[in-house]
Amino acid sequence: MTNKQAPIGVYDSGVGGLSVLQAIHAQLPSENTIYFADQAKVPYGERPLEEVRQLAESVTRRLMQEGAKLIVIACNTASAAALKHLRALHPDFPFVGMEPAVKPAAEQTLSGKVSVLATPSTFHGELYASVVERFARDVKVYQATCPGLVRQIEKGFLETPKTRRILEEALKPMLLEGVDTLVMGCTHFPFVIPLIRKIAGEEVRVIDPAPAVARQVGRVLEAWNLLNPSGTLGKATFFTSGDPKKLQSILPRLIGIEAEVFKA
Ligand code: DGL
Repeated sequence: MTNKQAPIGVYDSGVGGLSVLQAIHAQLPSENTIYFADQAKVPYGERPLEEVRQLAESVTRRLMQEGAKLIVIACNTASAAALKHLRALHPDFPFVGMEPAVKPAAEQTLSGKVSVLATPSTFHGELYASVVERFARDVKVYQATCPGLVRQIEKGFLETPKTRRILEEALKPMLLEGVDTLVMGCTHFPFVIPLIRKIAGEEVRVIDPAPAVARQVGRVLEAWNLLNPSGTLGKATFFTSGDPKKLQSILPRLIGIEAEVFKA
């Protein structure tokens, strides 16, 4: 029987999933979490989907060995590549994944023009095509891959001139076309929302799916009878396949947490 006190596994190629981790701790404060950053392999977004699927399979197996009671694939690219496959492989285990938040964007846009910011692999996946097909019939959807942005965010360069240049190149043409809603379709990108607002203006809607994903985690835990009833504040544990010191030094800047990071 699964222990309700067991941690929620949260997995991303790097620091992006921390945006989701933060929302999970905010909404489900009693839950313990175990975060896995596959930084030896970041960025995922330029790798073939088949390779990302294999990486996701081995990381999720590891999180299960660590005792995770549910795994959040806090990475759009890994969700696009592997979520269906992981559910088929482990039918008795709960997963929560990411999908580009095209539905709320289509509901909220006034101009009828929205843009998804995501990695090339996410755009290549079936999941993205199906979301656009289901929810964006009446709106025009633009796409931006923002080359180099994931690497900048991995380094903690959230407001440097290069980061600004990457975002300006991606956003300015579509803003000129009348895009009024931007979907964060990569979990790294919410960390540059303040800069996006400086470039795009405060009136542009920016959709970060993290709070909705955290609510979904709560619903799934409830449905599987896995909510932690302890009432005490949950603990977060961090692993990386990359350099633990680097991740450790960037945690306070990204999510305001000081914690030891372990080598995976
Ligand atoms: N954070 C990831 C995503 O949501 C992927 C970034 C990357 O490794 O390319 O797509």
